[in-house]
Amino acid sequence: MALSQDEMKQQVAEAALEYVESGMIVGIGTGSTANHFIDGLAKMKGKIDGTVASSEASAERLRGHGIEVMELNAVGNIPLYVDGADESNKYLHLIKGGGGALTREKIVAAAAEKFVCIADESKLVDMLGAFPLPIEVIPMARSYVARQLVKLGGEPVYREGFVTDNGNIILDIHNMEILNPVELEVTLNSIVGVVTNGLFAQRPADVLLLGTQDGVRSIT
Ligand code: 5RP
Repeated sequence: MALSQDEMKQQVAEAALEYVESGMIVGIGTGSTANHFIDGLAKMKGKIDGTVASSEASAERLRGHGIEVMELNAVGNIPLYVDGADESNKYLHLIKGGGGALTREKIVAAAAEKFVCIADESKLVDMLGAFPLPIEVIPMARSYVARQLVKLGGEPVYREGFVTDNGNIILDIHNMEILNPVELEVTLNSIVGVVTNGLFAQRPADVLLLGTQDGVRSIT
């Protein structure tokens, strides 16, 4: 019987547990795939020293399992970060932020030595951008930033009723041609009022584990 998308997410989250080593502080992503990873980690929580969470939601789930959540400022480098993605290309450039946690995700990814991205096979694409690219924006800059995004060829849509863990808003850019993710990430970050954009290309994933109907595929 064919695996559902959620079963593929679970399968790939379990595969990521193999990257967890004794005494590690593990960076934890956000979303349904990361949730499967958290649930798996709970079964081996005695092995790790603690975690750093990329969102309040993940922190709450970790604590619910009795797993220690630490402040990033209280730890040094993080040996391992495990998180999902909305899209990945074959260079492991990602679009993230479907759940709105992109800024903290990008911070934890930046602080991590190894970023293992976990996703079901539908997330691997030839070109990034079919998934609307999330941008976290300081609330007072919303209209200004939206106008700049239109000039860059995108169609920004305000994510109604959503406030990030940092108290900001999200604009999702639709129909943006992302020919050069590394360059676009820098361009978007240089717009005043933008906190972070959901392109993870300057710091891509190091390993992409993909859940497929035929098992877990690893791309490096
Ligand atoms: C949250 C994210 C998630 O990693 C992304 O949205 C994928 O989510 P899911 O694992 O539920 O498919 O970037 O901000």
